[in-house]
Amino acid sequence: MKKTLVLIYLLICVAGASAQQQPGLINNIAGRSSVSLDGQWKTIIDPYEVGNDLHFPKDARPKDKSDLLEYSFATTDSLNVPGDWNTQRDELFFYEGAIWYRKSFDYARKPGTRLFVHFGAANYLAEVYLNGEKVGRHEGGFTPFNFEITNLVREKENSLVVKVDDKRYPEGVPTLVTDWWNYGGLTRQVTLVEVPLTFIQDYFIQLRQGSKNQISGWVKLNGEKPAQKITVSIPDAGINKTFMSDESGSAEINFNADLTLWSPEHPKLYGVVITSETDHVRDEIGFRSIEVKGPDILLNGQPLFLRGVCIHEEAPLRGGRAYSREDARTLLGWAKELGANFVRLAHYPHNELMVREADRLGLLVWSEIPVYWGIKFESPVAFEAAQNQLGEMISRDHNRASIILWSVANETPNNPARLAFLKKLVERARSLDPTRLMTAAMLHHYADESTQMIDDPLGQYLDVIGCNEYIGWYDGLPEKADRMQWKTVYQKPVVMSEFGAEAVYGQHGDELTRWSEEYQESFYRHQLGMLKKIPFLRGTAPWILMDFRSPRRFLPGVQDYYNRKGLISSRGERKRAFYVMQEFYRELQR
Ligand code: GCU
Repeated sequence: MKKTLVLIYLLICVAGASAQQQPGLINNIAGRSSVSLDGQWKTIIDPYEVGNDLHFPKDARPKDKSDLLEYSFATTDSLNVPGDWNTQRDELFFYEGAIWYRKSFDYARKPGTRLFVHFGAANYLAEVYLNGEKVGRHEGGFTPFNFEITNLVREKENSLVVKVDDKRYPEGVPTLVTDWWNYGGLTRQVTLVEVPLTFIQDYFIQLRQGSKNQISGWVKLNGEKPAQKITVSIPDAGINKTFMSDESGSAEINFNADLTLWSPEHPKLYGVVITSETDHVRDEIGFRSIEVKGPDILLNGQPLFLRGVCIHEEAPLRGGRAYSREDARTLLGWAKELGANFVRLAHYPHNELMVREADRLGLLVWSEIPVYWGIKFESPVAFEAAQNQLGEMISRDHNRASIILWSVANETPNNPARLAFLKKLVERARSLDPTRLMTAAMLHHYADESTQMIDDPLGQYLDVIGCNEYIGWYDGLPEKADRMQWKTVYQKPVVMSEFGAEAVYGQHGDELTRWSEEYQESFYRHQLGMLKKIPFLRGTAPWILMDFRSPRRFLPGVQDYYNRKGLISSRGERKRAFYVMQEFYRELQR
């Protein structure tokens, strides 16, 4: 009797677990047959989180005039998707909590196909239901996830309900305090993706690290027919290679190819077609090698200086979370105008359209997970959240030529728990992607009154040392930089991953008047004087391209919940300091 009960219990768990999927079977939906669910979604704001108790996922309607139902998606307000909720309604500007989204749709699924619902991102926690059934949960506000709904979808009136909760919590990644606005909601595109019963789940097609002509990677099939013939074609290069996947659906890909290498000067992308017996996908991929040698960064074997700028995923001109191709083109266009060949996308993975645009425009990318400031490094919950986000970031973008650096952290306090936490993340990233460089934005300290030292022990596990410094803003006045020299314990390239000062566009004064354009301009002049003297410096990324919203910036008439360190205002106006950086980058190209 007891044995039978245990067996029944196990069966229920398995059934429950299979209903609740791990987010993320399908990768790279670009070029797949898909239906967008973007647009207006019905929403219920649920500050006390009683939606589950009231069965919101059921999306019920009153049976008759006496039926007691205290919610209705049919008659409630709407919000736009993609989009953060904070900038769509004044009453939601400061809102942190749960909001329930509901989208109804019809879908005639073709026989012999599977269906997935794909989310570009949802900040922070998402619980997904279809037709009253829970299909899954996802944690992390900046990476994609998806669930299979093949067996749940019906032809008419499907009810897709998503509870999104952006409350911050200590074990979260990021944790309680950040210097960016906690934009909540379905912040990126939502898509229905139809695939064959056995489909190409993921692929990794890149040059072997340090090689200019050896393609190495893999293709992964998912479905009832895992062992198949797979062809990788690059028509423009006359390449057509065939491989076999094994019983787990995996195929190793290795072949030589004489290709035009991708670079900022020549961002060559190739159409790459992967065909299996049951499926095919097409992608635009650039091929380039990136490596380090002593203090140098080598792109395609050539030494490189990263002329960079930091960017938050804040929509230019309109504010709120950026999500569109236009947003990406505007922000990256401004970076190009500055003379950049590199952008640090801070402090979390930006949307896929941004990195694909960087591929197209020829901008090298630093991509980062939000292990930011005081993360709970001793917490396994925090580690799992960080590791999941790292895996999702890498699997989404591992075919993007523009991305050369994976960053595992920003300004985290040096202690043993943190070091162990980040060391494990670096090892994980290297196992997922052996072709790119590992970095993190670290801090520095005074060795003596005129010497800055970079010796964070995390550096020993990294390829490129990122360092944030604010000499002349948080530390003294701009001229202080003139007296500073820099030292490092590492024979590795250093990128000054942040330096900056605040100014309100149009506010003028002398060079010592804080918040004036002249102070910011002077700050940059003194900074560049200091940076040019650092022998192991191989890149600069000023903080930051554009003013961005922050809940920690309060000065009335000056900050008004904006961090004003942008070289460009939130209305797109170039500040005087913009031209100082532009001139420096022009100099470097002469
Ligand atoms: C920090 C941090 C940024 C922040 C910046 C600032 O270094 O990494 O997220 O916005 O400094 O203080 O402006």
